[in-house]
Amino acid sequence: MNPDFTICIPIVAATLEEAIRDIEKARTYTDLVELRLDHFDNINPGKLQTLLAHCKRAIVTCRSPQQGGKIAISDEKQFQLLTAAIDLKAAYIDIEYNSKNLPALLPRCKKTRAIVSYHNFEQTPSLNELQTIYKTIDSQRPQLVKIVTRANSINDCFTIFELLRWKKNLVAFCMGLNGEISRILAPKYGSRLTFAGLTDDKTSAPGQIDIHQMQTVYRVPKINADTKCIGVIGEYAEHSRSKYLHNPLFELHKLNYVFLPFRVAASELAEFLQNFRKFDFWGAAVTIPHKIAIMPYLDDIDETAHSIGAVNTVLNFNGQLMGCNTDRTGAMHALKQHCNLDGTRILVLGAGGATRAILYGLKNEDVRVTVVNRTEAKARELAGEYAFDWGNSADLARLIREHDIIINTTSVGMHPFVDDSPIGASGLEPGKVVMDIVYNPMQTRLIRDAETAGCHTITGENMLIYQAIQQYILWTGREVDFHEMGDFFYAQAKYSP
Ligand code: ATR
Repeated sequence: MNPDFTICIPIVAATLEEAIRDIEKARTYTDLVELRLDHFDNINPGKLQTLLAHCKRAIVTCRSPQQGGKIAISDEKQFQLLTAAIDLKAAYIDIEYNSKNLPALLPRCKKTRAIVSYHNFEQTPSLNELQTIYKTIDSQRPQLVKIVTRANSINDCFTIFELLRWKKNLVAFCMGLNGEISRILAPKYGSRLTFAGLTDDKTSAPGQIDIHQMQTVYRVPKINADTKCIGVIGEYAEHSRSKYLHNPLFELHKLNYVFLPFRVAASELAEFLQNFRKFDFWGAAVTIPHKIAIMPYLDDIDETAHSIGAVNTVLNFNGQLMGCNTDRTGAMHALKQHCNLDGTRILVLGAGGATRAILYGLKNEDVRVTVVNRTEAKARELAGEYAFDWGNSADLARLIREHDIIINTTSVGMHPFVDDSPIGASGLEPGKVVMDIVYNPMQTRLIRDAETAGCHTITGENMLIYQAIQQYILWTGREVDFHEMGDFFYAQAKYSP
């Protein structure tokens, strides 16, 4: 545990009764809550006293609408409430850097500590600008300076990490979906607080993560300066389930690692990888749409990834980034767990990065493969590289009839387009094996249709799990048993939301 760091749960209730219930619930996770007085109907010093009596430690905040407050409270009322908080010996008051009440309130803070805060809901200013803001606030001698900005890109989080490395009396992180890693890694870079919603519908700012995720999935209270950061680099990384696999395994093996979603758009990849090196992140998984695009940015690519022509795993050796590929192992394990490949005819749908890994795995098997893709030229070219057949999408019904195993390697059916299927239900019949590599959701439309038709199905988490085990071995250097870890990962996949 990190003694200089606390997770704070904001209480965003409208009534006294609801707030007291929430304070009691919050106590099972942390001893620090933030009373957001701007969420209450008709708040007054008497009600504040009742609330504080239920809190072990509280930050009392009365935010203006310009700084993210919900209900407008006059300057006079803000002064009255925050003065009452000081008189009632609240642990902290949080007051905005530009509040008219700041000069009068700060000298009153003796037992109660003052947090002076700056919020920017539009963007993350440059490091220089943030340092100027910090200096202006710190010159008034509050105990803590809070700087919270909006991340328009994951790269903004690194500006905040730089800021945190620079000064110690800071609370700093980014809002918004792109700011998620800054909330999780707050204790690694020295933020004194991070905020987590009591539930995912009881949050007080955009992008706030709920306390269950923060504590149970990311193990934030255990994160410290030495924690090794690994994550999945993807345009929609927030949908990845890998965090539910790797984090529990790090916990089981008592490793000081954390697995995060790295939400990176194509235009942000180059800068993200510079930050990845600069901040010495330990490793990464790579997903749509970066498996091929990432290759020119890496220092080295191992033989398998090179032959496949795609990277799904990155290792950082002292700033030298090495690309590997575990999709082949994942796909072949998933297939062989469920069926005997010898002499089978396999129809592969798609011609992307994941397809390449699967074809590379199938090339040494006694199988006949046909590749079909929306963009036919890509199917023809890829099939040619492996001396496989290719087919035309217009012939799909016939091709399905003629093949024993059908593998979907396209992204069709993935959340949120859960009712899409890369093929119709016709031609699916008992005896055929249908494998989908889409795992979000596990029961894709294709899998549902195949089950209804009596096919044997292999859902997406099978490949996910086996490729993840090999990634885990690469990142941690641990020898783990594939079957034992497979069982562990299956249990996690089953119980994760
Ligand atoms: P990955 O690296 O995960 O394999 P990718 O390289 O972007 O991802 O490949 C995605 C695959 O899904 C491609 O085969 C793509 O077809 P195109 O080559 O024609 O782009 C396929 N795909 C994506 N959306 C599709 C859709 N709506 N219908 C059919 N195929 C689709």
